[in-house]
Amino acid sequence: MVRHFLDLYRLTPEDLRSILDDARDRKAARAGWPKGRIDGDAPARDHVLAMIFEKNSTRTRYSFDAAIRQLGGDAIIANASDMQLGRGEPIGDTARVLSRMVDLVMIRANSHEDVVRFAQASSVPVINGLTDKSHPCQIIADLMTIEERLGDIAGKTLAWVGDGNNVCASLIHAAPLLGYQFRIACPADYHPDLFDLQRGGNNVWLGTDPVEAVTGADVVITDTWVSMGDQDHEARLHAFEPYGVDDALMDQAGEGAIFLHCLPAHRGEEVTDSVLDGPRSAAWDEAENRIHAQKAVINWCLKG
Ligand code: CP
Ligand code: NVA
Repeated sequence: MVRHFLDLYRLTPEDLRSILDDARDRKAARAGWPKGRIDGDAPARDHVLAMIFEKNSTRTRYSFDAAIRQLGGDAIIANASDMQLGRGEPIGDTARVLSRMVDLVMIRANSHEDVVRFAQASSVPVINGLTDKSHPCQIIADLMTIEERLGDIAGKTLAWVGDGNNVCASLIHAAPLLGYQFRIACPADYHPDLFDLQRGGNNVWLGTDPVEAVTGADVVITDTWVSMGDQDHEARLHAFEPYGVDDALMDQAGEGAIFLHCLPAHRGEEVTDSVLDGPRSAAWDEAENRIHAQKAVINWCLKG
């Protein structure tokens, strides 16, 4: 059975736990090493990862490239606009061809359905590197960072302030698997998808008041108010104005609370400089952890 990594709700709690533990252990095992050195066990030796980008990326692109090298494998990277995909070659045909050439594929796509279609036609593992609906790879790094800073995530309270977007959806998906409470404060017109809310079940609380969501929380998380592909820029900036994370909002969180942001940040919009660069911010560890998280995801896919 091919192990695709498409969405966190498709994983068992044991799968998710094993990915997080592998990420933590691999990070610890190479502390102080140069970033290009290959891990002792080189689990991706002789393996090639293809990466396809329909949207811009810094963290996902570099972390996956560094990750596959540290695992002893190699990568081929292309923007979809440079591929025949960009001229209308069917996504399923692209998947069938790449399956004959590489050992796994990471794809960042505009449409979630395209990634599902790609996986259906692929005979090698497919990793969702962000779609309009979810960003599971990011959330592995987020969960890892939370456990690094605060210990076991079970029973912790995470508060999301802002857009009920793709990143928020993947945090919803993981909540019942790991047993954390996830409180979301967003404008009524920008709530998460109802199917996703159902997937989160009793672990998820939805409201519109940032203070209510953040009060006593262990972790405060936000993201851009305008995601790649969103058209209603002005309306969004207006709707999200009361949802910026500043020091006053962080002061409502629990003692020792940390701040996360998947980045890129829009300083002065969803977060102030003072929070992002301040002592409660774990966003830079979170960015580094993309490498360790992506290694564990690749490893999990290859083990299938
Ligand atoms: N957080 C994240 O996925 O960043 P990039 O868009 O730079 O890959
Ligand atoms: N929600 C953002 C995340 C970027 C990493 C977007 O989709 O643009």
